[in-house]
Amino acid sequence: MFTARSTPNIALIKYWGNQNDQLRLCANPNLAMTLNTPCVDVTVEESDAFTVTSKTKQMTEKDINRFKVTIENMNQYLSILHSQFSIPETISITIDSQIPSSIGLASSAAVFSGLAKALAALVEQSGTALTDQQISVMARLGSGSAARSIFGGFVALSCEGEDGAIDSYVAKQIAPESHWPLHDIVIAPSTEAKKVGSTEGHASAWSSPHYEQRLEDIHQKRQQECIDAILTKDFEKLQHVAEVDALDMHHCMQTQEPALNYLSETTHRILQEIKDLRTAEHLPVFFTMDAGPTVHLFCTDEAKERVSAYANEQKNCTIFESQAGPGTHLIGN
Ligand code: DP6
Repeated sequence: MFTARSTPNIALIKYWGNQNDQLRLCANPNLAMTLNTPCVDVTVEESDAFTVTSKTKQMTEKDINRFKVTIENMNQYLSILHSQFSIPETISITIDSQIPSSIGLASSAAVFSGLAKALAALVEQSGTALTDQQISVMARLGSGSAARSIFGGFVALSCEGEDGAIDSYVAKQIAPESHWPLHDIVIAPSTEAKKVGSTEGHASAWSSPHYEQRLEDIHQKRQQECIDAILTKDFEKLQHVAEVDALDMHHCMQTQEPALNYLSETTHRILQEIKDLRTAEHLPVFFTMDAGPTVHLFCTDEAKERVSAYANEQKNCTIFESQAGPGTHLIGN
């Protein structure tokens, strides 16, 4: 039995759309900060039946099937690595998530990175040691963004291998969590489950007339600008590139077929107020949003108290505070 502990990560250059939906080969390089909290523990154990249970969520048939397909794809990858061992069809997976359902933080990144790390320990027991980069490829097969949560701190997912190969997108840590103590203050205006999830959304990304330009901009300069901003701790540069990218992704989402409007009136109000606040008070803070109305406010130590006070003034919103974290690791076995 092996248990891995993982956390979500928040993208500063967003992953949106795939070259290959089944293998989750993302169409653009992307980059995120892995958070230090909230945690998800994933336990795997050989058993006599395939089971997936969550202590906090009722698993649907669709959810369970996603795990099954992920494990099939992981086995395909392990055979390419010439592993003698394949993950048994009868395995029990137990998920213990501390992610409050009300904060609108996608848990799939934490769940599938935890699953990959725990399964890798099982593979290792049979004699095949896997690197974190290989474990990250396994995680990506369950959820694209999960590839990033394997590593701590600031993590880039870039195309490095042969085009279209199962491991052609690999994640790498570009700086550890100690590099830059940024905070992510999360404001979640809605507790409603989103109607269209990321998986379905990615599949129609290419139908937006703005999508190809987005890919070109990221490939040509945005990803590199973001890496440079992080390495040089240039907050203003990071603010610019992260906000441009988040708004660009939402523009693509809103113009794809069918259109996806994840942002709410509250989201738009918060964005405007944050822009006003940083101009008026010269605060180092910027916003980013994933596939939902939740706003992530990134800020430095210097701005943390003020941004946190602003967040806590918001009525009918859930607030959550996090920082850069260490990435997925095994616990207590
Ligand atoms: C908008 O990794 O959640 O949050 O592979 O289908 O699980 P699946 O998609 P997912 O997509 C993340 C989309 C995003 C942007 C990002 O996190 O980069």
